[in-house]
Amino acid sequence: MAQKLYIQTNGCQMNEYDSDKMRDVLQASHGLQVTEIPEEADVLLLNTCSIREKAQEKVFSAVGRWKKIKDKRPDIVIGVGGCVASQEGEAIQQRAPYVDIVFGPQTLHRLPQLLNEARQGNTKVVDITFPEIEKFDALPKPRAEGPKAFVSVMEGCSKYCTYCVVPYTRGEEISRPLTDVITEIEALAEQGVREINLLGQNVNAYRGQMPDGEIASFAILLHFVAAVEGIDRIRFTTSHPLEFTDDIIEAYADIPQLVSHLHLPVQSGNNRILTDMKRGHKREDYLHTINKIKAARPGISLSSDFIVGFPGETDEEFEDTMRLIDEVGFDFSFSFIFSPRPGTPAADFADEIEMDVKKQRLQRLQNKLTGLATEQSQAMVGTVQTVLVEGVSRKNALHMTGRTENNRAVNFVAHPRLAGQFVDVLITEALPNSLRGRVVESSLDKIVKQAS
Ligand code: SAH
Ligand code: SF4
Ligand code: F3S
Repeated sequence: MAQKLYIQTNGCQMNEYDSDKMRDVLQASHGLQVTEIPEEADVLLLNTCSIREKAQEKVFSAVGRWKKIKDKRPDIVIGVGGCVASQEGEAIQQRAPYVDIVFGPQTLHRLPQLLNEARQGNTKVVDITFPEIEKFDALPKPRAEGPKAFVSVMEGCSKYCTYCVVPYTRGEEISRPLTDVITEIEALAEQGVREINLLGQNVNAYRGQMPDGEIASFAILLHFVAAVEGIDRIRFTTSHPLEFTDDIIEAYADIPQLVSHLHLPVQSGNNRILTDMKRGHKREDYLHTINKIKAARPGISLSSDFIVGFPGETDEEFEDTMRLIDEVGFDFSFSFIFSPRPGTPAADFADEIEMDVKKQRLQRLQNKLTGLATEQSQAMVGTVQTVLVEGVSRKNALHMTGRTENNRAVNFVAHPRLAGQFVDVLITEALPNSLRGRVVESSLDKIVKQAS
């Protein structure tokens, strides 16, 4: 019987992508089959995140639970990967000696070999190096699961914002060659993928080698992706306000496949805070970029990330962020209280602000953002939206579910054979976390014509 693999994933979409790749390599090398039940697994992997609070503690409580399984079945192998593993390395095994393998985000492709070493009796297998782009060359062919897929285009980050661990856990920015990315997307498109989400910490810093030796910018990459047959929707996660160059903005005018939704983290609307964060741009620069994007793609929906309570943030500085939100009119966004991360410069900045004050600011900011998002959902009622149908709704077997360009889930009555197709849906109701709608019959005629 095939041996079983259990993977728990914390953190961002890059970690989700990496976990899928861990599954793929171990399936190819050792025939491991994924299970949802940790107790029946032969190999247990934890893919960790250290972006905010208590990351280390979470790791030890998770593997602590797995130790009980190992006490009963000593042959199982426990591995810890991801960003905490990258930062802590051997320290993980010092505190939790029953962890057999520690590996980093850039060495997951070596798991087959690391697993063999562990099974040969080496109880301290550690590999958290950054072997450049080797990872992608060593991965099996991508497998599509449904009509949407993530494709990593670059790794790491060289921005070194003062609060952030990513440059330390994932290494410096490095891009995959253009042809590799496009070949992966073509393979996915052949399996029915219609929407691609290009992944990286700063995708707009993409600098991909082309076969002729030239370097492709992110805008060039977008044009190549749009040209892949079958790919009708392109998203990317995440971009940075720096290097959001005019050629990328022009892509919003020139590439219809690019969704009318952009997540562009700003963190703060105050210039002193932005400087202390080392974001490399001012409030005015951000607004200038946003205005150009709005001109290139009228009606585009914008979302962002915010950090409140950065060391020394005054009430007035916080209000600048609130005003920026009004000025831009953001949709669904993410906001966090500043978390001092060991090893980052901002962890040592003087910070006299009470936690209560930070919590109140977060609450106000989140109320504002939720209010804006609700308004936008309500404004969508009565409009017709293009929806990529993903499958049967989990809540109601008669409903199909899919997403709009601005990433809202929509549920509607439709035949399951529409999965994987784009349909036009008239939005009839806005709920807090989703929309309801009705398929526009004339859009089905288009699909029938396409199929025949
Ligand atoms: N590369 C992306 C985001 C990476 S992390 C960018 O630069 O925009 C995702 C989000 O986590 C960040 O945008 C930020 O809002 C938040 N974050 C990162 N480090 C944090 C910290 N130390 N405390 C609180 N929030 C943090
Ligand atoms: Fe972190 Fe800044 Fe890099 Fe984003 S750009 S990953 S916040 S260092
Ligand atoms: Fe977390 Fe690492 Fe992603 S710290 S947010 S898993 S890059």
